[in-house]
Amino acid sequence: AARLGASTALAGRHVLVTSGPTHEPIDPVRYIANRSSGKQGHAIAAALATLGARVTLVSGPVALPDPPGVSVVRVETARDMLAACEAALPADAAIFAAAVADWRSEASPTQKLKKQPGQAPPPLALTLNPDILATIAHHAQRPRLVVGFAAETEHVVEHAREKRLRKGCDWIVANDVSGDVMGGDANTVHIITADGTEDWPRLSKQEVAEKLAARVAEAVSCPASR
Ligand code: CTP
Ligand code: CA
Repeated sequence: AARLGASTALAGRHVLVTSGPTHEPIDPVRYIANRSSGKQGHAIAAALATLGARVTLVSGPVALPDPPGVSVVRVETARDMLAACEAALPADAAIFAAAVADWRSEASPTQKLKKQPGQAPPPLALTLNPDILATIAHHAQRPRLVVGFAAETEHVVEHAREKRLRKGCDWIVANDVSGDVMGGDANTVHIITADGTEDWPRLSKQEVAEKLAARVAEAVSCPASR
């Protein structure tokens, strides 16, 4: 059934989206995670589907319903998220909105860590997680358009410009997370491309999603540019 406001700008296109946090186990009952509601990533997946795209949404643990018309793959860890993204290729575009845990616990004991009376807390040795965005941006089946996010608390645009080059993506959506963005419904973002920086006004996450989906539709349908 056609959804209200549906269009065909992305008909026949496959778009991969990541959303939410990842959970990295410390033991069977504890984990390390980033703060992320998944609201922005899920709204992007929904907006792309409304434009007619086939959308694969690879999501970490979130308290949100699956967006309508979107194929959702649920994962826990960064390594699982990477595997699910690679399995979803090929795609015409990929948007990495997930707040991936940069590190995971080196050890993964099968039993719960127990407090030992009179003893110091257990040490937590960390190891680096794979960078999903950078891996897909350098993949043999690289989507034509690769979009990353950058959550920054200071020097937002400067850090995001560096990140775009370091990660090998086409665009970075930079957001200032020093305020009330986390878990909230509004977002102030800057779009960083090879051509420069666009400052968007403070918008709802829904509006950011719709504007970004429209930009993606333009970029993947236009023969030469990104
Ligand atoms: N990202 C990813 N895999 C990771 C870490 C980040 O795919 N292991 C993606 C995020 O989804 C986002 C972009 O990379 O699209 C930037 O994430 P961010 O945390 O801002 O950047 P980092 O490179 O991890 O740098 P730092 O956290 O040190 O600022
Ligand atoms: Ca990070």
